[in-house]
Amino acid sequence: VRDPWTPPLPIRTARLVLRAHLWSDLDDLVRFHGDATTTQYLPWPVRDRRATEDALRVKLRQDRAPAEGDWLVLAIEEAASGEVIGEVDLRRAPALRGDIGYVVRRDREGRGLASEAVTAILRYAFDVVGLHAVDAFISPGNDASARLALRHGFERNPARDTPGPDNPTSAYTLTLERYRTWDARAGA
Ligand SMILES: CC(C)(COP(=O)(O)OP(=O)(O)OC[C@H]1O[C@@H](n2cnc3c(N)ncnc32)[C@H](O)[C@@H]1OP(=O)(O)O)[C@@H](O)C(=O)NCCC(=O)NCCS
Repeated sequence: VRDPWTPPLPIRTARLVLRAHLWSDLDDLVRFHGDATTTQYLPWPVRDRRATEDALRVKLRQDRAPAEGDWLVLAIEEAASGEVIGEVDLRRAPALRGDIGYVVRRDREGRGLASEAVTAILRYAFDVVGLHAVDAFISPGNDASARLALRHGFERNPARDTPGPDNPTSAYTLTLERYRTWDARAGA
């Protein structure tokens, strides 16, 4: 029996291919890992090529999450260009929960591409893994991320906030029950 945390890849959507990272993705990753605006609200440093190489080396093995606490990290490949324009992540958290993460390259924002990747990873989280809830931990001021979460049915959940001092975040939660009744398009 296949571990649900070893997802069948790639996951295809209308405009995207969600897949394991490859060494050949390095040039694409350098573009957004080196962008200080993109990383402003992420617990990532701004990375030069060498640091991006180190980060990619880890991501190569994160196409599955065998143990609690592990992150599943999928490259977001834009089908039209074949370029990796971001990543979408799901951490295997305790108690049948997951933490979601997402990044898209700055020149690909505002097209609903992150949203398309989030729709696919939520379907995987709830329908394949069988999670009871997914949390998004969002830095204060990251309005684009909060809007994206709210559009997918997430609700503010102060009980799960992670307080400072380094990287305080506001928690947003999407429960299975709410996911089942939420129409992301109607909520857009
Ligand atoms: C957070 C982030 C992924 C959001 O990206 P995004 O492109 O704004 O998100 P979406 O894919 O949902 O696109 C939504 C926007 O595109 C617009 N849009 C255009 N075409 C669209 C379509 N076909 N479908 C949906 N939205 C569309 C929407 O109106 C919306 O604009 P708005 O947010 O100004 O209302 C992006 O800003 C990012 O990578 N930030 C840096 C990394 C980061 O902070 N990640 C989150 C950490 S918690």
